[in-house]
Amino acid sequence: MSETGERILVAVAWPYASGPRHIGHVAGFGVPSDIFARYHRLRGNRVLMVSGTDEHGTPIMVAADQESISPRELADRFNGVIREDLRNLGLSYDIFTRTTTPNHYRVTQDLFRTLHEKGYIFSEAMLGAFSPTTGHTLPDRYIEGTCPICGYLEARGDQCDNCGNQLDPADLIDPRSKIDGSTPEFRETEHFFLDLPAFKERLAEWIGSQRDWRPNVRKFSLGLVDDLKPRPVTRDLDWGVPIPLPGYEERDDKRIYVWFDAVIGYLSAAVEWGANRGEPDAWREWWQNPDARHVYFMGKDNIVFHSVIWPSMLMGYGEGGEVGAGRGPLELPHNIAASEFLTMEGRKFSSSRGVVIFVHDFLSRYDPDPLRYFLTSAGPESQDTDFTWAEFVRRTNDELVANWGNLVNRTLTNAHRNFGAVPEPGELTTDDRELLAAVEGGFETVGSLIDAASFKAALAETMRLASHVNQYVSDQAPWALVKSDRERAATVLNVALRAVDSLKTLFAPFLPFSSQTVHELLGHEGWLAGPLEFREVEEDGSKHTVLTGDYESWVGRWAPGDLPAGRALPEPRPLFRKLDPEKVVAEELARMEAAAASA
Ligand code: MF3
Ligand code: ZN
Repeated sequence: MSETGERILVAVAWPYASGPRHIGHVAGFGVPSDIFARYHRLRGNRVLMVSGTDEHGTPIMVAADQESISPRELADRFNGVIREDLRNLGLSYDIFTRTTTPNHYRVTQDLFRTLHEKGYIFSEAMLGAFSPTTGHTLPDRYIEGTCPICGYLEARGDQCDNCGNQLDPADLIDPRSKIDGSTPEFRETEHFFLDLPAFKERLAEWIGSQRDWRPNVRKFSLGLVDDLKPRPVTRDLDWGVPIPLPGYEERDDKRIYVWFDAVIGYLSAAVEWGANRGEPDAWREWWQNPDARHVYFMGKDNIVFHSVIWPSMLMGYGEGGEVGAGRGPLELPHNIAASEFLTMEGRKFSSSRGVVIFVHDFLSRYDPDPLRYFLTSAGPESQDTDFTWAEFVRRTNDELVANWGNLVNRTLTNAHRNFGAVPEPGELTTDDRELLAAVEGGFETVGSLIDAASFKAALAETMRLASHVNQYVSDQAPWALVKSDRERAATVLNVALRAVDSLKTLFAPFLPFSSQTVHELLGHEGWLAGPLEFREVEEDGSKHTVLTGDYESWVGRWAPGDLPAGRALPEPRPLFRKLDPEKVVAEELARMEAAAASA
């Protein structure tokens, strides 16, 4: 890949390793980030796409307790499951790692220590809720009780869903643990706080000057900056990154808060990526380079951590510490692409209530591209949207199969049957030239929509171009021409195949698997944009597996194809499977029964 391309960090939210992830999760952070990364790689830009499983914190501890296993065993299992799912969906991370690696601990502790040295982290006593059964901190959202303001019986520790007031768990009447019903104990405890108010002016100015952020993200974040309080960044737990300060390092009852370490993953994963390649300073080209662009992808419930807390940590760290090593400040986010929520048949996803479709269940029944198609064309990019099986079937059959799948099938089948190769064209007519020019224009229009994170519009534009080519093929009817004017039929099929060759690249960021198939059906060699692979990494005697890939070897280029006439064509095969609606319903009912039986 060229050394001149723009450096782009694609920073993708880290899924909790507390259980398998559902299609709502990958709709929010996964598919959009991958479209963006694949497009920029095809453009020749230097993309670094990083993420991993988020393995500390209460969600993992609660799930492990329920199974009577250790948090580490639980995290090991779901890191494996999630990594498989993301690979099978074709999410092309340069590195998908974990938050339990020695490298991540080292980078996290460096940031904590440096912020503490500079006075941005200070310690203070507070009243904390503890579970009498486990002795651990009980996070606010795991406490419920009677609202002291309106008397609602099921108010949460942090807010009352009935009257809407913000609450402090210590004020609840009859507080109880949502995990086991026990009464929390409130004890004085010493914690470290991140001094967010110290960054207030800088944050306001920085957020205020962002022109690329979606207006709702910018407005929401500015609102948060108005009301900043110091935030505790440690917890009374034994699972998490140890606090790197004298007197605390050896203690096994206090750890760094999960969100503090998780956001640092964006940096530590980049450091690990370079180290794994034997280029320990390579990460600096993205992180200590004012020309690099950093784009973050997540669900909307994560915005505060990315637009306020993480930027404060980065500002406070500056170029300090062992990792930064005085080689320039770390880059702040340039864009925060937060998506809305996906619901399922009108209800909120809930693993515990069985209102859920896990990624691995989905992919055991259907191919990844139709799911990617649905999540992009009907997903929650700018408003909450609903997944229904009926709509999944309709979008697959009436859009994907009927338009793009049909175009590929009929052009390839006709060319293969009648010519066995890409036919030699005669002179092009105005229609032919206009068609090729329209498809060529897609590289500009679709590209700028993707760059602006308007994925839904970008896919719609690509589909419009495919319809246009379909219309051309229907109008020209090469299957009839073959009998009357074989030379003209050859020209039409040559033009149509060249259009398909270009469309496969335009579709590649959205539908990488089927674009690879089209690439091969047109007789091209190599990987248009793939494949992904797992690699085992060993560091300080501990091993883990990362999802990665050798993306520099992609042969795809974001430019019209150059399909040579005369090239032999292999036997065509259908691009997508048409779905039988009754079968889809039957399979879903079978899944629900199996889930109910095992619950
Ligand atoms: N694990 C969090 C969630 O699923 C996301 C963490 S994103 C990162 O909501 F910032 F920590 F990386
Ligand atoms: Zn209330």
